[in-house]
Amino acid sequence: MKSKLEKIHKEALKALKDAKDSDTLEKLERQFLGRKAELARIAKDIKNIAKEQRPVIGKLINDVKRDISAIIQEKKQGKEFLAKGRPPSGWDYTLPAIAPNVGHLHPITQFLETIEDIFIKMGYEVVEGPELESQKYNFDLLNVPEDHPSRDIQDTFYVDKKDARNNSYVLRTHTSPVQIRAMKTRKPPVRLIAPGRVYRNERTDAGHETNFYQCEGLVIDRNIRITDLIGTLELFIKRLYGDNVNIRVRPHFYPFTEPSIDIDMSCLLCAGEGCPFCKRSGWIETLGAGMVHPNVLKNMKVDPKEYSGFAFGLGIDRFMMLYYQVNDIRLSYSGDLRFIEQF
Ligand code: DAH
Repeated sequence: MKSKLEKIHKEALKALKDAKDSDTLEKLERQFLGRKAELARIAKDIKNIAKEQRPVIGKLINDVKRDISAIIQEKKQGKEFLAKGRPPSGWDYTLPAIAPNVGHLHPITQFLETIEDIFIKMGYEVVEGPELESQKYNFDLLNVPEDHPSRDIQDTFYVDKKDARNNSYVLRTHTSPVQIRAMKTRKPPVRLIAPGRVYRNERTDAGHETNFYQCEGLVIDRNIRITDLIGTLELFIKRLYGDNVNIRVRPHFYPFTEPSIDIDMSCLLCAGEGCPFCKRSGWIETLGAGMVHPNVLKNMKVDPKEYSGFAFGLGIDRFMMLYYQVNDIRLSYSGDLRFIEQF
């Protein structure tokens, strides 16, 4: 991989050296930095290489890109010079160069990595699933009844693509379908988390967006009890925010778990006093959880008489907002550098 990147780098430098006019420069820019360029393809494939190698290769890709881009920019600024073969009048070569902007991971991504680290240390594996999901996985196999409001077209985004039973695909409304997908290739005992982007047809406000992130969790083994679930989540929340944070457990209903609970934590933005973020209640709803419903275990080809399990779904955005003290979820997706550059 390394030698491949070096080869691309060398090729680019050579081609750029001979570039004499702006058409050629633009062509080379597309060839080396465009969406279909080999560099872009390698960057996309990075998830397939060994985890320890990723930062090294990732950095190399960025270095190569940055260098090629800097040369192209430099040449573009001297465009007239290239065209006419002499410096334009008033061209001052002693002016300092424009420093390149260096990017970094989005706060949501940084935060997801923090969460993954906590669960990996507890022995969990990290798995992923598709964002465009069939209704079978998003609803049916999770025991969500046909008339459940979350299936409503007003609540969710359906797309034209249809599955074998002529049902429209849906932009997944939660990460829960990854539980079922993961169990296609696994047998208990399992401990996994599945982070990713999900979609809802929400009216946006400080606490709601039409796309956001969740992290699913699933544990299946013999003798798993609800106390294991509450203990795990309390430990997770305390590792994230410190021992002073309070949690409260409320009964709730989810079709895929029985019994089901919601876990709230004290609002860190107002220390439980009440603010717009926590709707003045002092508590933030952070996750839903419960004991995996026997029907769902059966859909995973797991015998509910032999095994039990718990599952949970965390709202990543809310956790991130509390962690970094952000008071409006929309900032995350606004693309506003004044926000992004603070992390
Ligand atoms: N899927 C639920 C949602 O999006 C969250 C959730 C609740 C996930 C309970 C779970 C669970 O795994 O057990 O609202």
